[in-house]
Amino acid sequence: MKGGRLRVGVLGATGVVGQQFVARLAGHPWFELAALFASPRSAGRRYGEAVRWQAGGELPVAAARLPVRTITPESPPEDCDLLFSALDAASAEALEPACVAAGLAVATNASAHRLARGVPLLVPEVNAAHAALLDARSGRGLLVANPNCATVGLVAVLAPLAARFGVEAVQVTTLQAASGAGYPGVPALDLLGNVLPGIPGEEEKLEREPRRILGRLAGGEIAEAPIVVSAQTHRVPVIDGHLLALSVRLGERASPEAVARAIDEFGQPLAPLALPSAPRRLLRRDDAADFPQPRLHAGGEGGMTVAVGRVRRCPLLDVRLSALVHNTVRGAAGGAILNAELLVRTGRLGVRR
Ligand SMILES: NC(=O)c1ccc[n+]([C@@H]2O[C@H](COP(=O)([O-])OP(=O)(O)OC[C@H]3O[C@@H](n4cnc5c(N)ncnc54)[C@H](OP(=O)(O)O)[C@@H]3O)[C@@H](O)[C@H]2O)c1
Repeated sequence: MKGGRLRVGVLGATGVVGQQFVARLAGHPWFELAALFASPRSAGRRYGEAVRWQAGGELPVAAARLPVRTITPESPPEDCDLLFSALDAASAEALEPACVAAGLAVATNASAHRLARGVPLLVPEVNAAHAALLDARSGRGLLVANPNCATVGLVAVLAPLAARFGVEAVQVTTLQAASGAGYPGVPALDLLGNVLPGIPGEEEKLEREPRRILGRLAGGEIAEAPIVVSAQTHRVPVIDGHLLALSVRLGERASPEAVARAIDEFGQPLAPLALPSAPRRLLRRDDAADFPQPRLHAGGEGGMTVAVGRVRRCPLLDVRLSALVHNTVRGAAGGAILNAELLVRTGRLGVRR
């Protein structure tokens, strides 16, 4: 890569998603972890002391030694080129634009600016072309967002269907993992041996974000896809992996076999770019009657593939199936890192001079 590795910081580094960033950035060929930020509760301590490590494996030694810093809209970091944001939406609201105004690139997981004009909401295999929204910006700073974690699984499996047959309507029911609520998240006594219906704000995101992601870039704006989504969400006592059960009305009739073939043939549209975090395939489909399961299949290709199964005829709409996405990886940190890699490879993001 020209110009050396980019210096990156993680906002919300002590949280569930922040830890995934730290884990995935250790040894990254293009990005060097330079700074870690969290709330004033954690600031002032070494990361290894401040964090309750949940991301699996060993906490990377170099990260453990870094001091945890705070950040305010008045003090964007000067020692970073790129920030990965795992802030809650309320904190992201003012902080992220302040960092962009200071010339930084921000790749965010927070929902605060996902639908803002000029902000690409990306799942790179699905809508990499939307990155061109950034080309109209005036300054050097930029903001790129990844979608809600369950939305990522939904649009991943809808993408080949939309391209081949068109998609008109979707009914989706989700079973979402505990880690999706962050740390410490939902109290154990509420969730263990139980299912909690209705995750605040989640159904609205599932119903709106796919329209934008599957929309068309025209004249510097996104023309949203006219897809109607009806979503029902549930929190379940699973650690990682959001399972989605969906029924789809297609634009043109297709057999379950033709739908399965479209999913199998989707492959990896980004392969020519050789992005370090891209899996060999976005979608992994299996014919087993009980596929996919969060505990067994959420971690495919390091959590970067979406597992798809049970493709069959739907007596109500046209076709129904199940999809599984690793919420903290493909649905969060892994997706954001892939977004940043796409921007680097397409010349939109580089070392700040
Ligand atoms: N969990 C998922 O699967 C998932 C998936 C996709 C997107 N997201 C989104 O990613 C973001 C992070 O989620 P999470 O699950 O990682 O949450 P989390 O575990 O609750 O972590 C939140 C992080 O934000 C920090 N923080 C809180 N208030 C702050 C402030 N005022 N200033 C600076 N830092 C502050 C916390 O620091 P302290 O430790 O010091 O309090 C912590 O590092 C959210 O926007 C969420 O919606 C999450």
